[in-house]
Amino acid sequence: MRYCGWVVRKVQVGRVLILEVSTSSSVRLSVLVFKPERDRDFYATVRDVDVGTALCFEGFPAEEQKSKRGIEYVVEKLEIYAKPLEPLPVDTAGKTPVLLDTRLKYRWLLARKPEERAIVRIRSGIIKAAREYFEANGFTEIHTPKIVAAGAEGGATLFKVQYFENDAYLSQSPQLYKQMLIASFEKVYEITPYFRAEKFNTPRHLNESWGIDAEQGFISSVEDVMKTLEELVAYIVNYVSKNYREELEELGIQPLQLTTPFKRLKFTEVVDLLRSEGVDVRENEDLSDYAERKLGEIMSEKKHYLYFIVGFPWSSTAFYYMREEDGIYTRKFDLDFKGLEIASGGQREHRYEKLVEALKDKGLNPENYSFYLEAFKYGMPPHGGFGLGIERLLMKILNLENIREAVLFVRDRTRLIP
Ligand code: 4AD
Ligand code: MG
Repeated sequence: MRYCGWVVRKVQVGRVLILEVSTSSSVRLSVLVFKPERDRDFYATVRDVDVGTALCFEGFPAEEQKSKRGIEYVVEKLEIYAKPLEPLPVDTAGKTPVLLDTRLKYRWLLARKPEERAIVRIRSGIIKAAREYFEANGFTEIHTPKIVAAGAEGGATLFKVQYFENDAYLSQSPQLYKQMLIASFEKVYEITPYFRAEKFNTPRHLNESWGIDAEQGFISSVEDVMKTLEELVAYIVNYVSKNYREELEELGIQPLQLTTPFKRLKFTEVVDLLRSEGVDVRENEDLSDYAERKLGEIMSEKKHYLYFIVGFPWSSTAFYYMREEDGIYTRKFDLDFKGLEIASGGQREHRYEKLVEALKDKGLNPENYSFYLEAFKYGMPPHGGFGLGIERLLMKILNLENIREAVLFVRDRTRLIP
């Protein structure tokens, strides 16, 4: 077998030279052991190799595996591809701790470390699993524009861009477009960036994040949508547990096995529950971060790690959620994972007149949404969907403290490079 990668550590033990190499074949390091009497041919070459060198080798796992650091190899062939021009700015061997700021600056280099690689690989596994789930369940993958004329999730978090002679925005969500496509597809999904001008630095927010969005038509109730979401999340989490054992082990994470259905809580129930625990909650507002975390603690005690909150008040939601007859509550839900919202979704308003009313009620000008409204004129079935935050999900699967750890190149209030 041929393996390619980078030297992360070089050690000499007596006359034995050891190269620890990070390759793509495994998150575990390859430990190349060279003995002068056995490897006369490349012993001199190896002595010259610096940490950071890009190389390929052919070889086989050693009969006796003595290293705790990785898999030991006996090398039969060695090719050097590139030598570092200068010493590396960070320790890719994982021997020296790195501050978050440095970690975020050099993630692309630190990804040579098993732990960092493991995070990136599991993120890729989430996407693979999501596609598998959707493709097996009749959803069509779509791509909607990221430069848009109108926002869907509130004006405060729109990034403005100059689009020739017009003002445009970066898309906060594929919301309007995925709904429009329910005029011609029963089920669609998109894996997409969200751009949001959140002004605050929190461990849960990014300015460019990624989501798994789905929308489905011909539903009989919001339950159909919640079922899709819980099946999807359970599929993803179980897929990661099954196919990324080595990565999880590297990160010290116990694989999680999820079963559906997840617990459903009414918003009003949550208000009562939290108040009984002395948490200050308003009936007509979204839950605060503190309230969400507190609820997470209460639910975790009952072994409910994932749970829905259904029926948010109209005063707290975007305009497109269907309102109940009472006009106070909606068919919007959140899915929380151990005290953190990882997804929002719901049934939409599909009746043209009601939708125009809803826009006005939210102080929006229906004229700015005419391209969207038109889709509701020609046979729009009852529909609903959700947006699932990829970084938030990854964060919860891996117990990451900061959402920034879940992306390779962070876009937040202070980071525009690398
Ligand atoms: O809750 P949000 O804003 O809902 C929507 O975008 C709707 N259009 C979804 C729908 O179909 N009704 O965003 C969905 C999820 C959040 O629950 C969160 O996990 C993630 O996307 N998210 C963010 N993650 C990190 N940083 C941000 N600034 C995020 N904004 C949303
Ligand atoms: Mg939300």
